[in-house]
Amino acid sequence: MPRMNLEGSSSIVTGGASGIGEASARQLAAAGSRVVIADLNEARGQAVASELGGLFVKCDVSSTEDADSAVAAASEMGPLRALVNSAGIGFAGRTIDRNNVPMDLDRFSFVLKVNLIGTFNMLSRSAAAMAQTDPVDDDGSRGAIVNMASAAAFDGQIGQCAYSASKGGVVGMTLPIARDLSAVGVRVNTIAPGLIDTPIYGEGEASEAFKTHLGQSVLFPKRLGTGEELAFTVMECITNPYLNAETIRLDGGIRMPPK
Ligand SMILES: NC(=O)c1ccc[n+]([C@@H]2O[C@H](COP(=O)([O-])OP(=O)(O)OC[C@H]3O[C@@H](n4cnc5c(N)ncnc54)[C@H](O)[C@@H]3O)[C@@H](O)[C@H]2O)c1
Repeated sequence: MPRMNLEGSSSIVTGGASGIGEASARQLAAAGSRVVIADLNEARGQAVASELGGLFVKCDVSSTEDADSAVAAASEMGPLRALVNSAGIGFAGRTIDRNNVPMDLDRFSFVLKVNLIGTFNMLSRSAAAMAQTDPVDDDGSRGAIVNMASAAAFDGQIGQCAYSASKGGVVGMTLPIARDLSAVGVRVNTIAPGLIDTPIYGEGEASEAFKTHLGQSVLFPKRLGTGEELAFTVMECITNPYLNAETIRLDGGIRMPPK
């Protein structure tokens, strides 16, 4: 079977206003898909969407109404074939702090709400729309979904309990969701990035120095990965008709130490 052809299709990229999501949106658009940038950041999201000939939809991934709006906007531009779940937030906080005070449960819940529940919300609503499209090949393929987990799903560091729980949840639901969606010809894969050079590390001289330092801990090559390199794997997950139910680390071989 050839690669899934995205010409004339539509896609949704959550978190598409920045970093990994933006890089993925660029490659989807280059492959001929009309991209909905579903993000909270209106200014950046509008700019990326108009550059790519797509559409910006202001969307909080944890809202069912916002998810429905993003899916409706995409479906108007063409059959929805791809969802990239890249919206996510980081949060550093220990289970108990230095004074033995337990973490505020609302902070833990919020990370789960955006990273795990938000991913599922966008995924289930996009899958429902994909299921109504005509299959693209003799296998009955209708679309593909890519989630962004993290190396922290496997080697979470000190202070990453909430973030690791959210990303571990994404890894854990990948197989059962792929099983659920096999009935409608939708594949589901997850990528677990290591250290990728995106705006999450800030900008300016100090953050450049910090990134160079961080890069030394990568096995090879000794640098952070780029959004473009990450997006290569996103595109493989979407277009390779036989790639399904997998979590792929994209991390230059790094294994994160406790801190
Ligand atoms: N950069 C890395 O090193 C790295 C490593 C591992 C995992 N990841 C994961 O990859 C994904 C993308 O990371 P990035 O580095 O590109 O981050 P980023 O901060 O550059 O981009 C994230 C985008 O998500 C958007 N967003 C945040 N909360 C949202 C919400 N509730 N609804 C909609 N949009 C929301 C932000 O506005 C932003 O545009 C995240 O899920 C992150 O956890 C990144």
